[in-house]
Amino acid sequence: MTLPDAISDIANQSLPKHVAIIMDGNGRWAQQRGKIRVAGHKAGVASVRQVVSTASRMGIKALTLFAFSSENWRRPETEVSALMELFMFVLAREVRKLHDSNIRLRVIGDIHGFSERLQKKISEAESLTAHNDGLTLNIAANYGGRWDIVQATQKLTAKICDGSLKPEQINEALLAEHLSMADIPDVDLLIRTGGDHRVSNFLLWQIAYAELFFTPVLWPDFGEEQFLDAIASFISRERRFGCTGDQIKNWLVSSANNS
Ligand code: IPE
Ligand code: IPE
Ligand code: MG
Repeated sequence: MTLPDAISDIANQSLPKHVAIIMDGNGRWAQQRGKIRVAGHKAGVASVRQVVSTASRMGIKALTLFAFSSENWRRPETEVSALMELFMFVLAREVRKLHDSNIRLRVIGDIHGFSERLQKKISEAESLTAHNDGLTLNIAANYGGRWDIVQATQKLTAKICDGSLKPEQINEALLAEHLSMADIPDVDLLIRTGGDHRVSNFLLWQIAYAELFFTPVLWPDFGEEQFLDAIASFISRERRFGCTGDQIKNWLVSSANNS
């Protein structure tokens, strides 16, 4: 096997199947430029586009993005409604392109907290892309890791009450089947931008064994290059089989550019 073949083999085998990102730092990015916080959220959309496109071209199976947490309702009314408008706008504008790229879009979280109009847009986007078998893109909106475990518990309890399940039949696998993203492997790599080293009630159960990658880069400054750095770091932590991190990174750059 030639060296590039060996590297591509290693990198392919060790590519994370499921990457999750806490997209943090939009507000500070805007404030540093003397702009209002919402300008940072708008600028962050370009980063989402780059990361989705790179993940899809690399053949990553699932990408989960934290867009709005169950705690983000505590923000000023104006910021919350601007975020909702932005979500609507981006969904309407991007869903066709996602579909054309064979991407399956899903929204995870308590979507009943959103307006009827937004809920309708979400379900239309999910139905349109439901049969795509490329990247699965999960947008976590009004999502909380604790909420996810509670809603799974409610489903199990309902089964106990109707007699179709016995308490002693509950195990880790069964609980996992009732969580969001039950059909997708657990997260391999969790990235958080914006410099903080915390999980902020994002996926809890699903990150039990994830590699954690924290970067000070603010989300609107995060693009393909920074995403590839994170993937290369994951691969080098996992299995390098004698190659250097730079060899793997160079291969990732050329594979993302060639596809
Ligand atoms: C993350 O950026 C985006 C959302 C939570 C919607 P922030 O808005 O939290 O940005 P900072 O952390 O205040 O800079
Ligand atoms: C986490 O960021 C939520 C999203 C990225 C959507 P926050 O900015 O809300 O988290 P905290 O408040 O710093 O923990
Ligand atoms: Mg923040």
